[in-house]
Amino acid sequence: MDLGRINIIGCGRAAGSLARLWVEAGSVCIGDVINRTFESAERAVTRTGAGHAVTAVSSMSRAEYWLIGANDDRIEDLAELLADSVTGLERSVVFHLAGRFGLEVLEPLAKTGACLAALHPVRSLTDAKLTVEEFRGTACVAEGSSAALDRLQPLITSIGGSWLPVDSINRGLYHASVSIVSNITKAVAWKAQKWQQKAGLPAATAATVTHQLLQSTMVDLARAGAKKTITGPVVRGDTSTIEAHLGAIRHSHPEDIDVYRVLARTVLELAQERGDLDEETLQRFQSLFRN
Ligand SMILES: NC(=O)c1ccc[n+]([C@@H]2O[C@H](COP(=O)([O-])OP(=O)(O)OC[C@H]3O[C@@H](n4cnc5c(N)ncnc54)[C@H](OP(=O)(O)O)[C@@H]3O)[C@@H](O)[C@H]2O)c1
Repeated sequence: MDLGRINIIGCGRAAGSLARLWVEAGSVCIGDVINRTFESAERAVTRTGAGHAVTAVSSMSRAEYWLIGANDDRIEDLAELLADSVTGLERSVVFHLAGRFGLEVLEPLAKTGACLAALHPVRSLTDAKLTVEEFRGTACVAEGSSAALDRLQPLITSIGGSWLPVDSINRGLYHASVSIVSNITKAVAWKAQKWQQKAGLPAATAATVTHQLLQSTMVDLARAGAKKTITGPVVRGDTSTIEAHLGAIRHSHPEDIDVYRVLARTVLELAQERGDLDEETLQRFQSLFRN
C-alpha cells in the first residue's frame, strides 16, 4: 500500500513513533522532517530510518500529508508558518496530534484550502520503538472535515490504529479525562508501591503485586466496566476496614491522607450510584472521607 508522502514539522516522541510505524507498515513515505534544531531533525531521521532533515519549512517539498507534531503550544504558530511559507497545500491533509485541541489551532491554514484534521493517538508515545503489533487497537480519536478524515483513516488503519471519528467535542474535558486514566493511574500505582514497601514488601514484590492487580483490573474493565465489577470495603460497607486504612496511612504516610480520601470519595460515588449502601453507612463514609 502506498498512501503517498508525509512531511513532519516537529518529529519528537509522538510523531517519531508514528513515523517508525509507517515505515514498518510500508504504507507512507516519510518526506522532509524539521525540528527546532537541525541536529534534532537529523536524529529523528536516523531513528526513523527514513526521511530528510531540513532547516526551514519553506524548503520542504510537496507532500500529500503534513503532520504538525510539535508541542501543543507551538502548533498554531507552526500552522501559520506553514500557511505563509508553502504553496500548493490545497491537495494536502494537515493534522496535529494534540488531544487538547480540535481544528481551531489549524485555523491559519483554512485559507490554503488544505484538508484539516486533529488526530489524537490515545496512548503514551515515548522514544522507545513501538511495533505495529504493539500499536494495534490503539484508540485514534479523529476530528476534521470529511475530506480530511477520508484520507487520514487509511494512514491510521495501516498501522493497526482503532479509528474513532468525533465531532466538536469539549476538548478540555476530553483531555482531562484521558489524562487521568493514563497519567494518574501510573502515579497512583507508583504511590501504592511506596505504601507497600513501607508496609514491608520488597520493591520487586510490590511491583509484581501492583502490576498484576492492574492487569486483572483491566480484564474486569474490558469485560464489564467499572460499575459492574468494582469490589472492596467501600462497596461492601466495611467502615471499620476503611477506618483501619485511614489510621495506617495517617501513621505511615500522613502527607497522603488527602490522596486516599479523594480517591475513596470517587469509589463511594460509584457505590452510591449502584445503590450498594444504606443511608447510615453512606453518611459514615462521608464523614470519614471529609477533609
Ligand atoms: N508523547 C505522547 O505520549 C503523546 C501522545 C498523544 C499525543 N501527543 C501530542 O503530540 C505532540 C508532540 O508531543 P511529544 O510528546 O512528541 O513532544 P516532544 O517529544 O517534545 O516532541 C516535540 C517535537 O517538536 C519539535 N518542535 C518544537 N517546536 C518546534 C518548532 N518551532 N519548529 C519545529 N519543530 C519544533 C521539537 O524539536 P526539538 O527536538 O528540536 O526540540 C520536538 O522534536 C503534542 O501535541 C502532544 O500533545 C503526545
